[in-house]
Amino acid sequence: MASQNNPTYAQWTLPASGGIDALQFDSAATLGRLLDDEVNVEIRAASVNYRELVIVKGGLPGTNESSSQQGVVPGSDGAGIVSAVGSNVTNFKPGDRVVTHIFPHVPDDYKPVMADVSAGLGKEMDGTLRQYGRFHHTTLVHAPENLTFEEAATLTCSGLTAWNALFGLRGREVGQGDWVLVQGTGGVSVAALQFAVAAGATVVATTSSEAKADRLRRLGATHVVNYKTTPEWGASARGLTPDNRGFDVVVDVGGDMTLGQSVQAIRTDGIVVAAGLIGGSAEPVPMMAALFNHCTVRGIIAGTRAQFDDMVKFVEAKNVKPALDDVVFGIRDVKDAYRRLDKQAHFSKIVIRLHA
Ligand SMILES: NC(=O)c1ccc[n+]([C@@H]2O[C@H](COP(=O)([O-])OP(=O)(O)OC[C@H]3O[C@@H](n4cnc5c(N)ncnc54)[C@H](OP(=O)(O)O)[C@@H]3O)[C@@H](O)[C@H]2O)c1
Repeated sequence: MASQNNPTYAQWTLPASGGIDALQFDSAATLGRLLDDEVNVEIRAASVNYRELVIVKGGLPGTNESSSQQGVVPGSDGAGIVSAVGSNVTNFKPGDRVVTHIFPHVPDDYKPVMADVSAGLGKEMDGTLRQYGRFHHTTLVHAPENLTFEEAATLTCSGLTAWNALFGLRGREVGQGDWVLVQGTGGVSVAALQFAVAAGATVVATTSSEAKADRLRRLGATHVVNYKTTPEWGASARGLTPDNRGFDVVVDVGGDMTLGQSVQAIRTDGIVVAAGLIGGSAEPVPMMAALFNHCTVRGIIAGTRAQFDDMVKFVEAKNVKPALDDVVFGIRDVKDAYRRLDKQAHFSKIVIRLHA
């Protein structure tokens, strides 16, 4: 910041159109007056998700397209240090290490839907690609004590979604003896791999890249299947499970492109978690596929704040260290970070350090 009286800092904002190239850099942003329910945070690190790409390219499915996102600070994920709290804030104090939660003004156990993804941080509310931020206290949780700011900044969107996928359905939490299938090496899938391994499950992963396969194995995947060279990867992965019984949980991030194979891989009474749609467009898989394969298909949107707190406790108890991509970007390099994400060149999470 320039001075206490006239604090300025750097941030990015979303353009009206033009995609990644049109993202705007502002080196003289100011915080404004702290309101009673707000918390000032020095944001140390942010991470980007597929969501950020969709937003900068012009919208999210199932959301209010008439609402403008121009001028909003993008990014839902961030971690930093509380510098001041408003008079109504009791759960945070200066010096606390915090992580952002996407969804403001909702109870701890509120299960978000797609419209909330639009209304949240980085789309209709200022997000995390800035050095300092004023946040409503409901958009923050305490950070795990065992993580760096860079690691903690991976938890907001993809981390919480992975957590919910594995542990969000009461009575069906993943544990020892379970087999879990994760797809590709993006943020959701690698977090799901790490959480499932930490819970004692056996994990099979898919990828299109032999180089990334090595890293999946090092993180604990017992087998890796190449979904490009093995088009019937669902059946192939199923063949790795005991007696060909299938997976207890498949975390599906590819949508119509992958759900057909996911139901081939699932066991009787298993759960296919419909978490994403990164695979591209394909003929939709009929809902009756659940009947034919005797399974549950469970759609999820990120998770609740209560689940976030549970995830933080788990990360601390099991000392899970979220995997980061090889390249960490600086605040001026945000467009390059988006381009790397867009090319799917990354492994797990692309992180941006917001201060030198
Ligand atoms: N439900 C929710 O609340 C929620 C939350 C977060 C994300 N999502 C969704 O989940 C999806 C993943 O998000 P993310 O942030 O983890 O993305 P990401 O980090 O950008 O993931 C990129 C990776 O996805 C993999 N991939 C692409 N097409 C694939 C396919 N056909 N089969 C298997 N893997 C494929 C690739 O892995 P390889 O390079 O290894 O092949 C690629 O590197 C997106 O659709 C996103 O919108 C949903």
